Amino acid sequence: MITIAVSKGRIYEDALPLLAAAGIVPIDDPKTCRKLILATTRPDVQLVIIRATDVPTFVEYGAADMGVAGKDVLLEHGAEGLYEPLDLKIAGCRLMTATHKDAPELSGRIRVATKYVKIAQSYFASKGIQAEIIKLYGSMELAPLVGLADCIVDLVDTGNTLKANDLEPRELIMDISSRLVVNKASMKMKHGAITDLISHFEKALAIRN
Ligand code: ATP
Ligand code: PRP
Repeated sequence: MITIAVSKGRIYEDALPLLAAAGIVPIDDPKTCRKLILATTRPDVQLVIIRATDVPTFVEYGAADMGVAGKDVLLEHGAEGLYEPLDLKIAGCRLMTATHKDAPELSGRIRVATKYVKIAQSYFASKGIQAEIIKLYGSMELAPLVGLADCIVDLVDTGNTLKANDLEPRELIMDISSRLVVNKASMKMKHGAITDLISHFEKALAIRN
């Protein structure tokens, strides 16, 4: 049995066509079904439905053989324990700094609100900016509006969320897409099955691109 960890929402929706290319179609729909383990049309493959930020943990510990996770989540988690064989080029967005639209250039010691503590720390350190990082779990956009932080580090796609909150993007930290990650022991123990799946995904990506 091969277990694949996927998060509900945009990654799941974008991953479905790639999974289908390997003959993997979930029997139930996680939007309407409360099951966390989904059987698929392939009797040797099941999906586990988890939070996006938990995917690297499940794969690193071997609770899932492989998974799909955003590069943002992988960088923040630290992906040393995982293989990352494929950029699936889904759930694309940008990790950026953003401030209030009227805020001056950032200088001196600043406060930064984000759920990406490690990434923000190393980004501001690399720029020689002294930053106090405040960990939040969501609604980062609120922080500059209520005086909690001078700046946020968050994902930007259309820019609509920033705009709706009188913020504007400032600096690009990195482009983000979702990656296929594989448990290192599974890659050895289930080598044939896993490389077969990877080659199906590669072919689907080549056709799509
Ligand atoms: P969790 O459920 O663990 O809190 P989350 O709410 O961030 O995670 P999603 O919103 O489904 O989960 O995001 C999953 C991944 O999709 C992110 O890690 C990122 O790589 C990508 N992503 C997030 N927001 C966007 C967006 N607006 N546009 C495109 N991709 C995005
Ligand atoms: C993500 C991200 C931003 C928003 C950016 O939130 O945290 O808030 O998307 O997208 P935009 O530039 O197209 O507006 P998401 O929709 O995942 O909500 P969540 O953070 O509450 O999960």
